[in-house]
Amino acid sequence: MKKVLGLDSLKPEMLNGKKVFVRVDFNVPVENGQISDITRLKASLPTIKYLEKNKAIIILASHFGRPKGKPNPEYSLKIVAEELSKILGKEVLFIPDCIGEKTQNTISGLETGSICLLENVRFYSAEEENDLEFSKKLAASADIYVNDAFGSAHRAHASTAGITQFLKTSVAGFLMEKEIKELSSVLNSPERPFMSIIGGSKISSKLDVLNSLIEKSDVVLIGGGMAYTFIKAQGGKIGKSICENDKLSVALEIIEKAKRLGTSLILPDDHLCIENFDTKEEEPQAFLVGQIPDSMTACDIGPITCDNFEVYIGQSKTVLWNGPVGIFEDSRFAGGSRVIAKSLSKLQAHGGKTIIGGGDSASAINAFGFTEKDFGHISTGGGASLEFLEGKTLPGIAALNCE
Ligand code: 3PG
Repeated sequence: MKKVLGLDSLKPEMLNGKKVFVRVDFNVPVENGQISDITRLKASLPTIKYLEKNKAIIILASHFGRPKGKPNPEYSLKIVAEELSKILGKEVLFIPDCIGEKTQNTISGLETGSICLLENVRFYSAEEENDLEFSKKLAASADIYVNDAFGSAHRAHASTAGITQFLKTSVAGFLMEKEIKELSSVLNSPERPFMSIIGGSKISSKLDVLNSLIEKSDVVLIGGGMAYTFIKAQGGKIGKSICENDKLSVALEIIEKAKRLGTSLILPDDHLCIENFDTKEEEPQAFLVGQIPDSMTACDIGPITCDNFEVYIGQSKTVLWNGPVGIFEDSRFAGGSRVIAKSLSKLQAHGGKTIIGGGDSASAINAFGFTEKDFGHISTGGGASLEFLEGKTLPGIAALNCE
């Protein structure tokens, strides 16, 4: 892959007084009308502050939720502009549209060092259609394009891809560069032993990443709901645990592939199970692999597996984790993912390298009270980090200028 040009490839004087369109990923979670996790906002600060220091006029743009191509107050970025103003301690002007004459006029009136945030680009269906007319309108107020939205880099949309056709200078922001560097280094030159831990509920959503990581890792640990498809495929009893019956042969192919490549593919040895998930008083019970009663559902890895996974992590030099190994949102089934997070932070503290592949595992880490300092890198991308680890070319990266 060619190396994309980053923001620091531009001489600071090239930024002075220039209008810089910065595509960020401010698709943040909201609970009861409040932003519940500001990780993505904080992650964009190095780029914003650098542009501010170099006297650019900063035009931030993002999508927010899936408003299906129509304006919808529920998905307005106004609350994000307010939150970002608080974080930065200076006004982030919210502009209630992302294109049009009024928007352009407002931007033209901004002084150097000002920061504005445009309204949700997905209020226009043309955004997701990567419509070139719309891309041109987005580009109309800007001199330079910076893409810092790694979380959206797997989308070929107008603000992530099409716009680069209308702005000659299109470079990666600091977050984008960091994500590319960290995820590429784990894929291309990990210190070995290199282990991947893959969780999540379905094989179908992780098939490509499993195939890619089995080729690159020395050991692959499997947890989460997808483990039961593997166990059933090998003839084990899984009770009422989640299973993709149409993926049993795929699971066997993955097991065969791992054997062929000499990669150790490790499944859980025991499981925490429950009769009725909705009965909050019910205490989970641990069962060995293959012995889950017909009436029970496995919701987390069991204590033996937790111990084993801890040992595997301790023996590795590089560990990549993608996907929780249990239903961590319920405290009864958070134990497995918590052990993984704790063992990874220990490995990091002892000089190992740990990478968290974004999405649900990143939420689990936050829920357990760990911070980004406890790990080598926590990706801000969900789908984007998966596709990157699958080895795909992401359109938002491919559209940028290269060395
Ligand atoms: C994400 O949260 O994964 C990104 O912001 C992409 O959002 P999308 O799946 O709605 O494109």
